[in-house]
Amino acid sequence: MPPLRQRDPAVQSKLGISERPGALPAPRPARSKEAAAAKAEQLRVLDETRVKGCVQCSLCKTRTQTVFGQGNPDARLVFVGEAPGFEEDKQGLAFIGPAGQLLSRMIVAMHLTRDDVFICNILKCRPPNNRDPSADEILSCSPYLMEQLAIIGPEVLVTLGAPASKTLLNTTASIGKLRGRFHDCYPSGIAGQGPSIPLMPTYHPAYLLRSPGEKRKTWEDLQLVMDRLGLR
Ligand code: URA
Repeated sequence: MPPLRQRDPAVQSKLGISERPGALPAPRPARSKEAAAAKAEQLRVLDETRVKGCVQCSLCKTRTQTVFGQGNPDARLVFVGEAPGFEEDKQGLAFIGPAGQLLSRMIVAMHLTRDDVFICNILKCRPPNNRDPSADEILSCSPYLMEQLAIIGPEVLVTLGAPASKTLLNTTASIGKLRGRFHDCYPSGIAGQGPSIPLMPTYHPAYLLRSPGEKRKTWEDLQLVMDRLGLR
């Protein structure tokens, strides 16, 4: 984890968020460079040998390219969205369109940068016309996400929007009901089996662009994440 940055009131007011006053905690010691390099290599192999050539579902016929996700291979915090959109499919990077720009501002407000965290999606290929992912597509693609999480070993997950939250929590509850508190995510896929990762569901930045009045709730969710990670 990098040194903590100063709070930036300009960023926070742009986001329509405010923050409780309080002393910044001491920075955590960095994780080892060797561990990060090993994880980067494992992620590269997963991407090159499995994800890039994936033909598990029909999205392989319409994609320009797969979008594996990017960021710190040893991240303490991983954001999981739904699926690549138009820009992401064109450039091969997750969350780089308008929703991604808002996500970047949210990350900065958390005293982090995009290079500190890992950002990826449930689906690695764009559904035509950005339609919702189908249950079959989620089923075929989720193993890649689970492997990414097993390699990175984050301390906290943030799921952006309903599809990511429902998939990782194996629930049909609405995002409005799920957000606002931590849940246990079991990468094994079976509740109670194996280690769990604390998961905070929140609204998708694309939804926040359409409903800016909800940004405050997402900022509340992210503040809980910051508390958990000792970022404020
Ligand atoms: N929306 C997502 O869920 N993921 C992206 O990468 C871009 C937009």
